[in-house]
Amino acid sequence: MGIHYDDGARVFKLDTAHTSYVIAITDEENFIGHAYYGASIRDMDVSYLMRTKEAPFVPSQNNRDRSSFLDTFPMEYPGNGVGDYRESAIAILDENGNTAVDLHYTGHRIYDGKTGIPGLPATFGDETECSTLEIYASDSVRMLDVTLFYTVFEDVDVIARSVQITNRAKEPVYLTKVMSTSVDMDAEDYQMLTLHGSWARERQIEYRSIGYGKQSVGSTRGESSHQEHPFVALVSKGATQESGKVYGFHFVYSGNFLAQVEKNQFDSLRVVMGIHPQDFCWQLKENETFYAPEVVLTCSENGIGAMTRTLHDLYRKHLIRSPYKNKKRPILINNWEATYFDFDTEKLLAIAREAKKCGIEMLVMDDGWFGYRNDDNTSLGDWQVNEEKIKGGLKNLVDEVNRIGLKFGIWFEPEMISPDSNLYRNHPDWAIALPERTPCRSRNQYVLDLSRPEVRDYVYEAVASILRSTNIEYVKWDMNRQLTDLGSAYLNRENQGELLHRYVLGVYEMQERLLKEFPKLLLENCSGGGARFDSGMLYYSPQIWCSDDTDAIERLKIQEGTALIYPLSTMGAHVSDCPNHTVGRVTPFATRGHVALAGTFGYELDITKIPAEDREQIPQQVAMYHRYNELVREGDYYRIASYSQNHEYDCYGVVAKNRMEALFTFVQVLNRPNYHSRRIYLQGLAPEKKYRIELGRENGEASILYGDTLMHAGIQIPNMWGDFQSVLLHLTAVEE
Ligand code: GLA
Repeated sequence: MGIHYDDGARVFKLDTAHTSYVIAITDEENFIGHAYYGASIRDMDVSYLMRTKEAPFVPSQNNRDRSSFLDTFPMEYPGNGVGDYRESAIAILDENGNTAVDLHYTGHRIYDGKTGIPGLPATFGDETECSTLEIYASDSVRMLDVTLFYTVFEDVDVIARSVQITNRAKEPVYLTKVMSTSVDMDAEDYQMLTLHGSWARERQIEYRSIGYGKQSVGSTRGESSHQEHPFVALVSKGATQESGKVYGFHFVYSGNFLAQVEKNQFDSLRVVMGIHPQDFCWQLKENETFYAPEVVLTCSENGIGAMTRTLHDLYRKHLIRSPYKNKKRPILINNWEATYFDFDTEKLLAIAREAKKCGIEMLVMDDGWFGYRNDDNTSLGDWQVNEEKIKGGLKNLVDEVNRIGLKFGIWFEPEMISPDSNLYRNHPDWAIALPERTPCRSRNQYVLDLSRPEVRDYVYEAVASILRSTNIEYVKWDMNRQLTDLGSAYLNRENQGELLHRYVLGVYEMQERLLKEFPKLLLENCSGGGARFDSGMLYYSPQIWCSDDTDAIERLKIQEGTALIYPLSTMGAHVSDCPNHTVGRVTPFATRGHVALAGTFGYELDITKIPAEDREQIPQQVAMYHRYNELVREGDYYRIASYSQNHEYDCYGVVAKNRMEALFTFVQVLNRPNYHSRRIYLQGLAPEKKYRIELGRENGEASILYGDTLMHAGIQIPNMWGDFQSVLLHLTAVEE
């Protein structure tokens, strides 16, 4: 068991394989203090780190310096409005208009295993894999009970935190802020590592220094968003992929979030993460409980790469549930970039026939098959097949595709409603809108009010009845606009502030239902590309469309940022046609294949129209996928060089857990004149093993070198002619 309690000292110690987390309860007033989080330590009672015996940190008996105490004490879950001026974790509005919360320890429970969080995605593990500490705290005046949950995943070096709040008073209380985690620590020289982006440019890596005051990323868009990401890491100065201290905080949630680092007057840091308090106000009636989503915390002394591999392992083992999680995904061909809205049964079948010849395994019919949707202005909500396009109906098409030998997948955008749709004409009040205001359109559509049960039921049935009607084995669940005009015709005045969170709960509920009814379905989430690529969605779908930008070079940056925290097995990545539809760039077909290999792999092009020399490469790429996918999906990921930093070349690799095999991808983005070869230093190999190196292009000879040579002395990658060239290095350990 990774959790220990010292009754005398009133100290909790949580241990993973390489980290310790210590919580201590203060003597007089039962404050729950944070003593330590970092590399493993042996001592249990390190409550001296909380400095409760040093002026001005003493909670004075006569109350004279109480505010100094509260403003400096490392509180495990700080309440609002009683003297701690740093960001609080919880704030309320009570019947009297007061906002303060003052929490004190009342008890705890420790057990093996982990319980789920009602209605929310969460990491899981059985009694042998994790143990949980529940700390009970209470505001006895306000009669608010708070449970702090800490689950220790010993083997993967992760602590998962979440919070539950119950109102024990007769009168309702309004929660105006509920963070899922707050961690106080001394401000060493950390940098803040976050992911930012936009449509077609998701999850770009950014470092910034931490100044006094608050610095944050967040989303108030109703989804985790293209723009900022529910993740923050503190990276010690000079840390590399392989060395240095790194704390990672990742929110398992798909809606609004705040991830904030605050540096205070005494050079301590407070990191908070949770649902963004903006537009959040949750009514809790007597004995009702609010469940806050989970944050996963990890700390590594071995650099950024160790954090990455920890999160990959956590998600692969303890978050993704799909039966596909450890399986090869069918290689799909999607018709979006091939045809956009201009397709019919014949075109789709022609693509399927040609795809089959090349070894592709599934056809996905994207947007435009329903209502009378021939552009993006209509029909969302009218999930009936357009038989003018899909002549003979959907079942006929699916049967034909199956007969050709391909599986069939389909696109939906269940959360949306077009103003020009029968659904909207019949139920205008089902759209999220403010009374007396015309809601703002985005891609000419509105968002359905998923806080409303009949809306969820209707949309669920619409989707499910299509899936029941024929043999559909994959669904791409899209979400193409962010939320505005936050009003619900369904919610009462006192519940309007619940809309954004209820919306996310509605999405989760619908996807849960879908997976219960269709347990074998391969679900891929998507949101205008990768705006809802988050760990919340991974609980429902084992893969998420990474970005609408399929250009191999732009993808290097997008996939680097994504792979920083998400396993490669989750990254939707396809080979598309050139000039690329987003940036107009022309890259070699082989490079496009190598880059897509780092994800789920598939095609997004009109295979009947692409140049013959490209099409001829598809069977080899298919073989490459089959050969390497298991390694890519299950291996340990290493970032060797970053094009986003060096602007010339990119290199990353995966190494099998048993170190017997590895695959490194090198992309020479820009060629350099008068340059012979480039040295790279591999990582993750067993130093004492000999590896046979096979270059996935004709220009390299196989050679055999020790792991330590490959990692410390490096290897020369031959210069390639032209820009955007790439090469795979496949390594297999050879017996002595
Ligand atoms: C979004 C998706 C695309 C495609 C279109 C269809 O942009 O990310 O892959 O499905 O919608 O409208």
